[in-house]
Amino acid sequence: MKHEIIEKNIGLMALLMVLAVSIGGLTQIVPLFFQDVTNEPVEGLKPYTALQLEGRDVYIANGCVGCHSQMIRPFRAETERYGHYSVAGESVWDHPFLWGSKRTGPDLARVGGRYSDEWQRAHLYNPRNVVPESKMPAYPWLVEHKLDGKDTAKKMEVMRGFGIPYTDEDIAGAKDAVKGKTEMDALVAYLQVLGTSIKNKR
Ligand code: HEC
Repeated sequence: MKHEIIEKNIGLMALLMVLAVSIGGLTQIVPLFFQDVTNEPVEGLKPYTALQLEGRDVYIANGCVGCHSQMIRPFRAETERYGHYSVAGESVWDHPFLWGSKRTGPDLARVGGRYSDEWQRAHLYNPRNVVPESKMPAYPWLVEHKLDGKDTAKKMEVMRGFGIPYTDEDIAGAKDAVKGKTEMDALVAYLQVLGTSIKNKR
């Protein structure tokens, strides 16, 4: 029997297994590279402003992604709590994306507009000020660290290289847009825009 030949020949079986699995995988993965729904920005998506882009870097530098995901899954329990599930077109301009998978704290994909700027500031300065039982670390230094805007234009140019439609004026004005602002200003500006490009049905 042909089957017996394969079962008794481990090298051949391994080869055929790899072949079978890769065909299965490729038929699922490859089409995603060519579909508009996974490649094109959702309608109304705006590039991060200079300040929001700096805020995103503050988010990365302070390890927020280690406790917070930005990816609402399409399940009822998730959409009732956080709002509309995340769609690929919302993060096509995020380089690198910050979907994450660790949820010590809540998902932040649609936190934009959920609280006031004042609440966000008080919370980041010391979460216990507004959520007494919170286990989130305090980030008081964010109000002391000022941005100098030295690299902001360069960062936007790099993002433009990835296809994000920044204009020459955006880039020329980048330094002035962030100069004198604190890391707190930038981070709150970033948080407040998260997930606001599609209608939040929460
Ligand atoms: C050690 C884990 C941890 C880290 C690191 C962390 N958080 Fe949190 N975060 C939490 C927990 C737990 C909560 C829920 C309690 C609360 O609201 O404080 C939370 C809540 C939040 C909320 C409120 C979300 C909501 O929907 O109510 C925001 C906004 C937030 N965090 C932002 C941040 C940002 C920005 C950073 C990085 C500067 C950060 N967190 C870092 C654990 C963390």
